[in-house]
Amino acid sequence: MTRARITIDRDFTIGEVPRRIFGSFVEHMGRCVYTGIYEPGHETATEDGFRQDVLDLTKEMGVSVVRYPGGNFVSGYNWEDGVGPVDQRPRRLDGAWHTLETNEFGLHEFAKWSKLADVEIMEAINLGTRGVDAARELVEYANHPGGTYLSDLRRKNGAEEPFDIKLWCLGNELDGPWQIGHKTPDEYGRLAMEAAKAMRYVDPSIELVAVGSSNSRMPTFGEWEYSVLTHAYDEVDYMSMHAYYYEQDGDAKSFLASAVDMDYFIESVVATADAVRARGKHKKFIDLSFDEWNVWYQRGLDGEDQPHNITKSGVWREHPRVIEDEYNVTDAVVVGTLLNSLLRHGDRVKIANQAQLVNVIAPIRSEENGPAWRQSIFWPFARMAELAKGQILRTSTVSDRVDTAQFGDADLVDVSATWDEENGRAAFFLANRGLDDSAEVEVALRGFAASKVTRAEVLVAPEGKDRFATNNLDTGEQVGLKPLENVQIDGGRMTLTLPPLSWAVIEVAVTAS
Ligand code: AHR
Repeated sequence: MTRARITIDRDFTIGEVPRRIFGSFVEHMGRCVYTGIYEPGHETATEDGFRQDVLDLTKEMGVSVVRYPGGNFVSGYNWEDGVGPVDQRPRRLDGAWHTLETNEFGLHEFAKWSKLADVEIMEAINLGTRGVDAARELVEYANHPGGTYLSDLRRKNGAEEPFDIKLWCLGNELDGPWQIGHKTPDEYGRLAMEAAKAMRYVDPSIELVAVGSSNSRMPTFGEWEYSVLTHAYDEVDYMSMHAYYYEQDGDAKSFLASAVDMDYFIESVVATADAVRARGKHKKFIDLSFDEWNVWYQRGLDGEDQPHNITKSGVWREHPRVIEDEYNVTDAVVVGTLLNSLLRHGDRVKIANQAQLVNVIAPIRSEENGPAWRQSIFWPFARMAELAKGQILRTSTVSDRVDTAQFGDADLVDVSATWDEENGRAAFFLANRGLDDSAEVEVALRGFAASKVTRAEVLVAPEGKDRFATNNLDTGEQVGLKPLENVQIDGGRMTLTLPPLSWAVIEVAVTAS
């Protein structure tokens, strides 16, 4: 039996839960757009061709902001291809994913979809093959009310009102040799600074995200952030980060401790940004945008090992199946711990986007002319987006630990917690990383009096199945949430038992004491 003691204190808060950390990502990649969010022939299609079943699941998931249109795709994309009469839009080769892009779906369609999904748009610009001019023109097209060539073109194309996009990504993964238009830190830093300046000349109200490292193992990690911010500190608001994790060679212990790397990555980027702040005598802080994160088994098209080798397949297809990972119970527990890491760092991580929304390494799956369904990883996201409200509470955890080959040792019980003073609720998001043992957890609620448990649910392997159980067309949604029994509260103390390898959410009614 594992044991863990967690303490929270009403006075020890980290900051307001940033709603934008419940973001997602829609890329023109595989079947994320076509047959994912958009399928005009589908039986649930809206008059604009959006899949209503996928829209419903997006809303149920509680997604707050969606990054678009890529990803690697954006580094070779002309935004102008995706606007104007659909029958006049060019068909193009997308080199990033070796796909035939019809451009049937573009900015106007995405803006309409975002309204229906009730999400904020986070628009990425192409700083791979393009530069300052295309960037500022896109801001003018999207955000200027009217009376100029580009803003009037938007109106002519059907959008009388500006899209009013606040959040912009200055390119994507330009530190990666696989990226179209890969750059050195100095090349990118200068370009990002100039693009940011010109974009703000058009619309001073926008918020800008500079490209950071594609993961913490990149050879330029650290140096990249330092150089880019040295060039662009005054012009940007956020530094981006990306990270994907997966179970390698059956090493489940390390995989389950992936959030240790996420913690390290976040804390290192915060330290680097703050070092540039000190050296440059800047006043403002740069916050973080973790705008791609998830579990990804790094298998590519047609079973290739490396996703970036997709370009070698030699066949150009429209929306092929690409990296449609099927997620199991272990993956859901890891996703829960990654969300915990993001939430615990909510004083600096202000934006986060799970990559991606549908079909491509996604919590939602859909079949062409068929159903849509929730993968296992849907649940930790959906419940945290629903219940993590108000203040993030600092958690002090004393837990039995596990040694891992990749990430050193980690707490067997992982937690994050929030306090919604307005509604008198505290919420706890817990994971038991132990593969074999249950965990006895005791929570000391200092400064709170808890009156009743209002929600207690757990995600665990279904009856008779193991940790590799998934949801697919044959199994149905067998991996999901069920009630967590026996959560006891007694004033300022809560006790519960987490089953082996599980993720759980507990919400309690509290008053300040
Ligand atoms: O999300 C899939 C891909 O992963 C994105 O296009 C890219 O930015 C990253 O390498």
